Amino acid sequence: MTVDMSVALGAMKLRGPVLAASGTFGYGTEVPLLDRSALGAMVSKGIFLRAREGTAPPRIAETPSGMLNAIGLQGPGAEALVRDYAPRWAEWDFPVLVNINGESASEYGELTARLDGVAGIAGFEINISCPNVEQGGLYFGNDPHAAAAVTEAVRKRTKLPVWVKLTPMVGDIGVIARAVESAGADALCAINTFVGMSIDINSYGPRLSFRTGGLSGPAIRPLAVHLAHQAARAVRIPVIGIGGIMRADDALEFLVAGCSAVQVGTATFVNPNAIAEVHDGIGAFLTAKGFGSLDELPRYLPRD
Ligand SMILES: Cc1cc2nc3c(=O)[nH]c(=O)nc-3n(C[C@H](O)[C@H](O)[C@H](O)COP(=O)(O)O)c2cc1C
Repeated sequence: MTVDMSVALGAMKLRGPVLAASGTFGYGTEVPLLDRSALGAMVSKGIFLRAREGTAPPRIAETPSGMLNAIGLQGPGAEALVRDYAPRWAEWDFPVLVNINGESASEYGELTARLDGVAGIAGFEINISCPNVEQGGLYFGNDPHAAAAVTEAVRKRTKLPVWVKLTPMVGDIGVIARAVESAGADALCAINTFVGMSIDINSYGPRLSFRTGGLSGPAIRPLAVHLAHQAARAVRIPVIGIGGIMRADDALEFLVAGCSAVQVGTATFVNPNAIAEVHDGIGAFLTAKGFGSLDELPRYLPRD
Protein backbone atom coordinates (compact mmCIF):
# COMPACT_ATOMS: atom_id res chain seq x y z
CA MET A 1 0.00 0.00 0.00
CA THR A 2 1.37 3.40 -0.89
CA VAL A 3 0.86 6.11 1.64
CA ASP A 4 -0.59 9.50 0.60
CA MET A 5 2.09 12.04 1.44
CA SER A 6 0.42 15.03 -0.20
CA VAL A 7 -0.04 18.22 1.78
CA ALA A 8 -2.34 21.20 1.33
CA LEU A 9 -0.85 24.50 2.46
CA GLY A 10 -3.88 26.70 1.99
CA ALA A 11 -4.54 26.77 -1.75
CA MET A 12 -1.15 25.28 -2.57
CA LYS A 13 -1.09 21.50 -2.99
CA LEU A 14 2.27 19.76 -2.57
CA ARG A 15 3.09 16.16 -3.45
CA GLY A 16 5.05 15.74 -0.22
CA PRO A 17 5.81 17.48 3.07
CA VAL A 18 9.58 17.89 2.64
CA LEU A 19 10.79 21.15 1.11
CA ALA A 20 14.23 22.57 0.34
CA ALA A 21 15.10 25.49 2.66
CA SER A 22 16.22 28.83 1.27
CA GLY A 23 19.94 29.31 0.86
CA THR A 24 20.78 25.62 1.05
CA PHE A 25 19.60 24.54 -2.41
CA GLY A 26 20.76 27.54 -4.43
CA TYR A 27 18.39 28.19 -7.32
CA GLY A 28 17.91 24.45 -7.75
CA THR A 29 20.00 24.45 -10.91
CA GLU A 30 23.46 24.05 -9.38
CA VAL A 31 23.27 20.30 -8.80
CA PRO A 32 21.60 18.90 -11.92
CA LEU A 33 22.02 15.26 -10.92
CA LEU A 34 20.36 15.65 -7.53
CA ASP A 35 17.22 13.54 -7.19
CA ARG A 36 14.36 16.03 -6.93
CA SER A 37 11.54 13.50 -7.23
CA ALA A 38 10.77 13.64 -3.51
CA LEU A 39 10.82 17.41 -3.24
CA GLY A 40 7.51 18.92 -2.13
CA ALA A 41 8.68 22.41 -3.12
CA MET A 42 11.84 24.46 -3.27
CA VAL A 43 12.48 27.86 -1.74
CA SER A 44 15.13 29.74 -3.68
CA LYS A 45 18.10 31.54 -2.18
CA GLY A 46 17.08 34.93 -0.79
CA ILE A 47 16.92 37.74 -3.31
CA PHE A 48 16.77 41.54 -3.20
CA LEU A 49 15.45 43.79 -5.96
CA ARG A 50 19.02 44.60 -6.96
CA ALA A 51 22.16 42.47 -7.15
CA ARG A 52 24.18 42.18 -3.94
CA GLU A 53 27.70 41.04 -3.23
CA GLY A 54 27.09 39.67 0.24
CA THR A 55 29.66 39.64 3.03
CA ALA A 56 33.42 39.15 2.75
CA PRO A 57 34.85 35.67 3.46
CA PRO A 58 35.16 33.75 5.70
CA ARG A 59 31.41 33.26 5.55
CA ILE A 60 30.91 29.90 7.18
CA ALA A 61 32.29 28.17 10.26
CA GLU A 62 31.61 24.66 11.52
CA THR A 63 30.39 24.43 15.12
CA PRO A 64 29.40 21.49 17.36
CA SER A 65 26.43 19.79 15.64
CA GLY A 66 25.90 22.80 13.40
CA MET A 67 27.33 25.65 11.40
CA LEU A 68 27.43 29.42 11.39
CA ASN A 69 26.88 31.29 8.14
CA ALA A 70 27.01 34.93 7.19
CA ILE A 71 26.49 35.00 3.45
CA GLY A 72 24.81 38.41 3.61
CA LEU A 73 22.15 37.54 1.04
CA GLN A 74 24.42 37.59 -1.98
CA GLY A 75 22.31 37.41 -5.11
CA PRO A 76 21.90 38.46 -8.73
CA GLY A 77 18.82 40.68 -8.25
CA ALA A 78 15.30 40.38 -9.65
CA GLU A 79 16.04 40.94 -13.34
CA ALA A 80 18.63 38.14 -13.50
CA LEU A 81 16.37 35.82 -11.52
CA VAL A 82 13.52 36.37 -13.97
CA ARG A 83 15.84 35.93 -16.97
CA ASP A 84 18.12 33.06 -15.85
CA TYR A 85 16.20 30.91 -13.36
CA ALA A 86 12.42 31.33 -13.58
CA PRO A 87 12.20 29.86 -17.12
CA ARG A 88 13.87 26.68 -15.86
CA TRP A 89 11.62 26.50 -12.79
CA ALA A 90 8.60 26.70 -15.10
CA GLU A 91 9.56 23.29 -16.50
CA TRP A 92 9.79 21.54 -13.14
CA ASP A 93 7.08 19.38 -11.61
CA PHE A 94 7.21 20.99 -8.15
CA PRO A 95 6.58 24.60 -7.11
CA VAL A 96 9.40 27.08 -6.54
CA LEU A 97 8.88 29.93 -4.10
CA VAL A 98 11.19 32.92 -4.04
CA ASN A 99 12.67 34.04 -0.71
CA ILE A 100 12.27 37.82 -0.88
CA ASN A 101 14.15 40.51 1.01
CA GLY A 102 14.19 44.28 1.29
CA GLU A 103 15.44 47.20 3.32
CA SER A 104 11.96 48.70 3.66
CA ALA A 105 8.37 47.47 3.42
CA SER A 106 7.98 49.30 0.12
CA GLU A 107 11.07 47.58 -1.32
CA TYR A 108 9.53 44.17 -0.47
CA GLY A 109 6.37 45.34 -2.25
CA GLU A 110 8.30 46.52 -5.31
CA LEU A 111 10.18 43.23 -5.56
CA THR A 112 6.92 41.27 -5.29
CA ALA A 113 5.35 43.35 -8.05
CA ARG A 114 8.36 42.65 -10.31
CA LEU A 115 8.17 38.87 -9.73
CA ASP A 116 4.40 38.39 -9.60
CA GLY A 117 3.03 36.69 -12.69
CA VAL A 118 6.43 35.46 -13.91
CA ALA A 119 6.10 31.86 -15.14
CA GLY A 120 7.99 29.52 -12.83
CA ILE A 121 7.39 31.53 -9.64
CA ALA A 122 4.69 29.81 -7.59
CA GLY A 123 4.77 31.99 -4.49
CA PHE A 124 6.81 34.04 -2.05
CA GLU A 125 8.55 33.38 1.24
CA ILE A 126 9.11 36.70 2.99
CA ASN A 127 12.41 36.72 4.81
CA ILE A 128 12.04 39.00 7.82
CA SER A 129 14.56 36.99 9.76
CA CYS A 130 18.02 37.18 8.16
CA PRO A 131 20.60 37.87 10.84
CA ASN A 132 23.36 38.66 8.32
CA VAL A 133 22.46 42.02 6.82
CA GLU A 134 23.04 45.53 8.19
CA GLN A 135 19.71 46.94 6.94
CA GLY A 136 16.32 45.24 7.35
CA GLY A 137 16.45 41.49 7.97
CA LEU A 138 15.94 40.67 11.60
CA TYR A 139 14.65 44.15 12.42
CA PHE A 140 11.37 43.43 10.63
CA GLY A 141 11.07 40.02 12.25
CA ASN A 142 11.13 41.03 15.88
CA ASP A 143 8.66 43.89 15.75
CA PRO A 144 5.03 42.86 15.17
CA HIS A 145 4.14 46.17 13.48
CA ALA A 146 7.10 46.06 11.10
CA ALA A 147 6.47 42.36 10.38
CA ALA A 148 2.83 43.10 9.57
CA ALA A 149 3.74 46.12 7.40
CA VAL A 150 6.10 44.01 5.27
CA THR A 151 3.51 41.23 4.95
CA GLU A 152 0.82 43.74 3.90
CA ALA A 153 3.14 45.33 1.32
CA VAL A 154 3.72 41.92 -0.27
CA ARG A 155 0.11 40.74 0.10
CA LYS A 156 -1.16 43.80 -1.78
CA ARG A 157 1.02 42.99 -4.82
CA THR A 158 0.19 39.30 -5.36
CA LYS A 159 -2.51 36.67 -5.23
CA LEU A 160 0.10 33.90 -5.09
CA PRO A 161 0.79 32.13 -1.79
CA VAL A 162 2.69 34.33 0.69
CA TRP A 163 4.65 32.61 3.45
CA VAL A 164 6.45 34.53 6.19
CA LYS A 165 9.70 33.18 7.60
CA LEU A 166 10.02 33.92 11.29
CA THR A 167 13.11 34.59 13.36
CA PRO A 168 13.79 32.71 16.60
CA MET A 169 15.37 35.89 18.02
CA VAL A 170 12.15 37.10 19.69
CA GLY A 171 10.60 37.10 23.15
CA ASP A 172 7.29 35.61 22.05
CA ILE A 173 7.07 34.12 18.57
CA GLY A 174 3.28 33.84 18.92
CA VAL A 175 2.94 37.66 18.85
CA ILE A 176 4.79 37.93 15.52
CA ALA A 177 2.96 34.88 14.15
CA ARG A 178 -0.45 36.41 14.89
CA ALA A 179 0.59 39.81 13.49
CA VAL A 180 1.61 38.39 10.11
CA GLU A 181 -1.41 36.06 9.99
CA SER A 182 -3.68 39.11 10.42
CA ALA A 183 -1.70 40.93 7.70
CA GLY A 184 -2.57 38.24 5.17
CA ALA A 185 0.10 35.52 5.33
CA ASP A 186 -0.98 32.14 3.94
CA ALA A 187 1.58 30.15 5.96
CA LEU A 188 4.46 30.61 8.40
CA CYS A 189 7.94 29.16 8.20
CA ALA A 190 9.56 28.62 11.58
CA ILE A 191 12.41 29.18 11.93
CA ASN A 192 15.40 30.98 10.45
CA THR A 193 18.81 30.76 12.12
CA PHE A 194 19.84 31.90 15.61
CA VAL A 195 22.51 34.58 15.92
CA GLY A 196 25.77 33.03 17.09
CA MET A 197 29.47 33.74 17.29
CA SER A 198 32.61 31.68 17.16
CA ILE A 199 36.08 32.88 18.11
CA ASP A 200 39.37 31.82 16.58
CA ILE A 201 41.58 31.72 19.67
CA ASN A 202 44.75 31.86 17.58
CA SER A 203 43.89 35.08 15.79
CA TYR A 204 42.08 36.50 18.84
CA GLY A 205 38.99 37.41 16.86
CA PRO A 206 35.78 36.13 15.28
CA ARG A 207 35.95 33.28 12.77
CA LEU A 208 33.45 35.05 10.48
CA SER A 209 34.29 38.37 8.88
CA PHE A 210 30.75 39.59 9.66
CA ARG A 211 31.61 38.84 13.36
CA THR A 212 28.36 36.96 13.95
CA GLY A 213 26.49 34.41 11.86
CA GLY A 214 23.30 32.38 11.73
CA LEU A 215 23.46 29.06 13.58
CA SER A 216 21.79 26.10 11.86
CA GLY A 217 21.90 22.31 11.97
CA PRO A 218 21.03 19.74 14.65
CA ALA A 219 22.33 22.06 17.39
CA ILE A 220 19.16 24.16 17.05
CA ARG A 221 16.59 21.39 16.58
CA PRO A 222 14.94 21.26 20.05
CA LEU A 223 14.78 25.07 20.09
CA ALA A 224 13.26 25.04 16.61
CA VAL A 225 10.68 22.36 17.47
CA HIS A 226 9.59 24.41 20.45
CA LEU A 227 9.30 27.66 18.46
CA ALA A 228 7.50 26.02 15.53
CA HIS A 229 5.09 24.44 18.03
CA GLN A 230 4.51 27.82 19.72
CA ALA A 231 3.83 29.42 16.33
CA ALA A 232 1.44 26.61 15.34
CA ARG A 233 -0.49 27.06 18.58
CA ALA A 234 -0.81 30.79 17.96
CA VAL A 235 -2.34 30.74 14.48
CA ARG A 236 -4.82 28.91 12.24
CA ILE A 237 -2.71 29.05 9.06
CA PRO A 238 -0.25 26.21 8.34
CA VAL A 239 3.24 26.28 9.84
CA ILE A 240 6.26 24.84 8.04
CA GLY A 241 8.85 23.62 10.55
CA ILE A 242 12.57 24.25 9.98
CA GLY A 243 15.70 23.69 12.00
CA GLY A 244 18.20 20.89 12.23
CA ILE A 245 16.25 18.20 10.39
CA MET A 246 18.74 15.49 9.40
CA ARG A 247 16.49 12.44 9.10
CA ALA A 248 12.85 11.37 9.01
CA ASP A 249 12.40 11.13 12.78
CA ASP A 250 13.49 14.77 13.13
CA ALA A 251 10.91 15.86 10.54
CA LEU A 252 8.25 13.78 12.29
CA GLU A 253 8.95 15.68 15.52
CA PHE A 254 7.98 18.92 13.78
CA LEU A 255 4.93 17.33 12.14
CA VAL A 256 3.63 15.87 15.41
CA ALA A 257 4.35 19.24 17.09
CA GLY A 258 1.76 20.81 14.79
CA CYS A 259 3.61 21.63 11.56
CA SER A 260 2.01 20.85 8.20
CA ALA A 261 5.31 20.45 6.34
CA VAL A 262 9.05 20.87 6.92
CA GLN A 263 12.07 22.39 5.22
CA VAL A 264 15.48 20.73 5.18
CA GLY A 265 18.53 22.99 5.02
CA THR A 266 21.99 22.24 6.42
CA ALA A 267 21.47 18.46 6.11
CA THR A 268 21.74 18.77 2.31
CA PHE A 269 25.33 20.02 2.69
CA VAL A 270 26.23 16.86 4.62
CA ASN A 271 24.13 14.45 2.58
CA PRO A 272 22.95 15.62 -0.85
CA ASN A 273 20.23 12.96 -0.74
CA ALA A 274 18.86 14.09 2.63
CA ILE A 275 15.53 15.41 1.34
CA ALA A 276 14.68 12.17 -0.47
CA GLU A 277 15.70 10.11 2.56
CA VAL A 278 13.60 12.23 4.94
CA HIS A 279 10.61 11.96 2.58
CA ASP A 280 10.93 8.17 2.22
CA GLY A 281 11.50 7.74 5.95
CA ILE A 282 8.30 9.60 6.79
CA GLY A 283 6.44 7.35 4.35
CA ALA A 284 7.95 4.23 5.93
CA PHE A 285 7.01 5.44 9.43
CA LEU A 286 3.40 6.13 8.42
CA THR A 287 3.13 2.72 6.78
CA ALA A 288 4.63 0.96 9.81
CA LYS A 289 2.10 2.70 12.05
CA GLY A 290 -0.76 1.68 9.77
CA PHE A 291 -1.65 5.16 8.48
CA GLY A 292 -2.82 5.58 4.90
CA SER A 293 -1.95 9.26 4.69
CA LEU A 294 0.07 11.99 6.37
CA ASP A 295 -3.18 13.64 7.43
CA GLU A 296 -3.81 10.70 9.78
CA LEU A 297 -0.64 11.39 11.81
CA PRO A 298 -1.68 12.41 15.34
CA ARG A 299 -0.67 15.99 16.21
CA TYR A 300 0.19 17.37 19.63
CA LEU A 301 -1.36 20.82 19.41
CA PRO A 302 -3.17 21.85 22.57
CA ARG A 303 -4.92 25.21 22.20
CA ASP A 304 -4.71 27.66 25.10
C1 LIG B 1 24.38 28.79 4.04
C2 LIG B 1 22.98 29.18 4.43
C3 LIG B 1 22.31 30.17 3.70
C4 LIG B 1 21.00 30.54 4.04
N1 LIG B 1 20.36 31.51 3.32
C5 LIG B 1 19.07 31.85 3.62
C6 LIG B 1 18.36 32.80 2.83
O1 LIG B 1 18.86 33.33 1.82
N2 LIG B 1 17.09 33.12 3.22
C7 LIG B 1 16.49 32.54 4.31
O2 LIG B 1 15.34 32.86 4.63
N3 LIG B 1 17.13 31.61 5.04
C8 LIG B 1 18.39 31.25 4.73
N4 LIG B 1 19.05 30.30 5.47
C9 LIG B 1 18.34 29.66 6.63
C10 LIG B 1 17.76 28.29 6.26
O3 LIG B 1 16.83 28.38 5.21
C11 LIG B 1 17.11 27.61 7.50
O4 LIG B 1 16.05 28.42 7.98
C12 LIG B 1 18.11 27.40 8.64
O5 LIG B 1 19.37 27.03 8.14
C13 LIG B 1 17.65 26.35 9.65
O6 LIG B 1 17.45 25.11 9.03
P1 LIG B 1 18.57 23.93 8.99
O7 LIG B 1 19.04 23.74 10.40
O8 LIG B 1 17.85 22.74 8.42
O9 LIG B 1 19.66 24.43 8.10
C14 LIG B 1 20.35 29.91 5.14
C15 LIG B 1 21.03 28.90 5.86
C16 LIG B 1 22.31 28.53 5.51
C17 LIG B 1 22.99 27.43 6.30
